[in-house]
Amino acid sequence: MLQKIAPTGIKKLDEAMGGGFPRDGISLLVGPSGIGKTILAVQWLAEGARNGENCIYISTTIPAEAIVVYYGNMPFLRDAVDKIEWRDMYLSPRDLVPFTKEKMLKIFNMIMPDYFDENLNLKKRIDRLVIDSLTTIEEIVGDPSMFRYLGATWIRFFHEKKIATLLIEEVDFDFKKRAGEMRNFSEATIMMDYMEHMNLHMRAMKIIKRYGYNHPTYWMPFHIREEGIKL
Ligand SMILES: Nc1ncnc2c1ncn2[C@@H]1O[C@H](COP(=O)(O)OP(=O)(O)O)[C@@H](O)[C@H]1O
Ligand SMILES: [Mg+2]
Repeated sequence: MLQKIAPTGIKKLDEAMGGGFPRDGISLLVGPSGIGKTILAVQWLAEGARNGENCIYISTTIPAEAIVVYYGNMPFLRDAVDKIEWRDMYLSPRDLVPFTKEKMLKIFNMIMPDYFDENLNLKKRIDRLVIDSLTTIEEIVGDPSMFRYLGATWIRFFHEKKIATLLIEEVDFDFKKRAGEMRNFSEATIMMDYMEHMNLHMRAMKIIKRYGYNHPTYWMPFHIREEGIKL
């Protein structure tokens, strides 16, 4: 039996998150490009993979193989890179039309036929799943209300399949306004951003949501190192 929480292995973050990301439902990472979302998500997968969990990384942007090339030799991933499944979700608008629930879920059979059969039943357990990022999908869908419907459909599906899922959303400068379309559907949300403090620029993250746990609400500065994210 797996614990109800899926730790990241980043000690201070796990403490602040009440142990890690909840397995019941989805979590969200929101932030601008280059801030460290992919590294954090991959670090979370590596932590699971090292403990014998089945972990899948799905890229909707650059080929997943590129992540292996960029980060595969870094100490946080080196011993787990071969245990993680690296997949691509390269969709065209046509893959989503007509815009029905069936079509939205069929995608998982299309990209992972070894995990999901035609009826979308799981053939093998999935313990941790990352989709990096939802923003590409949002752009393909185009319409905000349809995108929310797709998000809700996927999230219910992962929940039903008991897959701990971490979704990533890219945001840019109007970030403060939008701050993650899927936020309301998530059990936990972390925002990451560049901060300016006494003329120093740094990276920081803030837990804006974590159901069932009284988390800190301040910005926590972090660094990216060869060993991964460090708070
Ligand atoms: N070996 C490294 N040491 C320190 N920082 C690194 C290293 N490799 C990449 N980075 C930093 O990580 C950032 C990319 O992180 P990533 O998680 O891919 O960002 P995001 O997914 O949010 O766009 C780069 O902008 C770079 O500054
Ligand atoms: Mg990324």
